[in-house]
Amino acid sequence: MGPSGHASMPRVLVLGGSGFIGRHVVAALRVQGCTVAVGTRHPARHGGGDCRAVRMERLLHADDWAGLLRDCDVVVNCVGILRPRPGETWERVHHLGPRALASGCAGRGLRLVHVSALGLGSAARSGFLRSKRNGERAIRAAGGDWHIVRPSLLDGEGGFGARWLRRVARWPLHPLPRGATGRLAVLDVRDLGDAIARLVIEGGGDAREHELGGPQLRTLAEHLAALRRLSSPRPAYTLPLPDWLTRGVAHLCDLLHWTPLSYGHWELLRHDNCPRANALPALLGRTPRGVGLAPAPPSSPAADILPPCPDLPS
Ligand SMILES: NC(=O)c1ccc[n+]([C@@H]2O[C@H](COP(=O)([O-])OP(=O)(O)OC[C@H]3O[C@@H](n4cnc5c(N)ncnc54)[C@H](OP(=O)(O)O)[C@@H]3O)[C@@H](O)[C@H]2O)c1
Repeated sequence: MGPSGHASMPRVLVLGGSGFIGRHVVAALRVQGCTVAVGTRHPARHGGGDCRAVRMERLLHADDWAGLLRDCDVVVNCVGILRPRPGETWERVHHLGPRALASGCAGRGLRLVHVSALGLGSAARSGFLRSKRNGERAIRAAGGDWHIVRPSLLDGEGGFGARWLRRVARWPLHPLPRGATGRLAVLDVRDLGDAIARLVIEGGGDAREHELGGPQLRTLAEHLAALRRLSSPRPAYTLPLPDWLTRGVAHLCDLLHWTPLSYGHWELLRHDNCPRANALPALLGRTPRGVGLAPAPPSSPAADILPPCPDLPS
């Protein structure tokens, strides 16, 4: 039964449904038989189907959402920006817009599934991470039927960061920041799409906040090495980079809008970025797909399931 109380599947608005995560959420929902509308800044570019013009930075009051939330039972928010653009600040896109959205959903009795991130500890210094943390707080405060999903790093087709990491993995020399010692629980974006579809359709029981990761824990160096093994039997040479240099390059990248490296990424890489309790196997009802592994034999051992991550920053 859909959240609207009808026996049919829910009608879902996927904000950022044109992005890496959003596209996989839309696909997973359609497979389940949901009617899906996509929210994007450029509806004309994504013609076909129900595409709605959404400018998160301009939708700052609950009433601003009234028209967009028409005919919906559930909203999934996959909107995110790595860097601010004129008029589109991190605060507006990650905090103030989602705050208004959460309040609009709560007022109409709609379920909201919000995609956030791991590693938003209170010590985070990057404006990117702080805005995402403020967004989470605002959604909790709005009340209603909200869910916050925090995936670790994602791998899959069509992701900007994922494409970069796959490219760097093929290089014979891997530049590796010395301080990037945090472990990642990289997950397959298709699994994230399936898990979010499950939350949309069934809710999460008593759980509201869902930390998600793949089955392997690896540092950035180990992740690159695993990706490389898929295309070459020869390990890459490594070039350790001092932290001051990585930090400087991250700031320069932010200034010039280059590559996926940013100060926020640098902060994330220095700490574990894996779930304390991985909700992914339970949401999927199966072992998550491995990332950077040769094609798996028909049955995967239960021991592959991710252990808890003990030392996350609070
Ligand atoms: N990728 C990862 O590994 C990863 C891991 C953990 C968490 N996350 C989080 O997940 C979220 C989505 O990530 P992603 O990798 O899917 O990013 P993405 O591919 O860049 O997609 C971002 C989406 O946001 C939309 N968007 C951007 N600015 C907007 C605005 N001002 N108003 C309305 N829509 C806007 C874009 O739609 P249009 O361009 O069509 O308007 C696009 O569909 C982010 O918050 C990110 O921090 C990502």
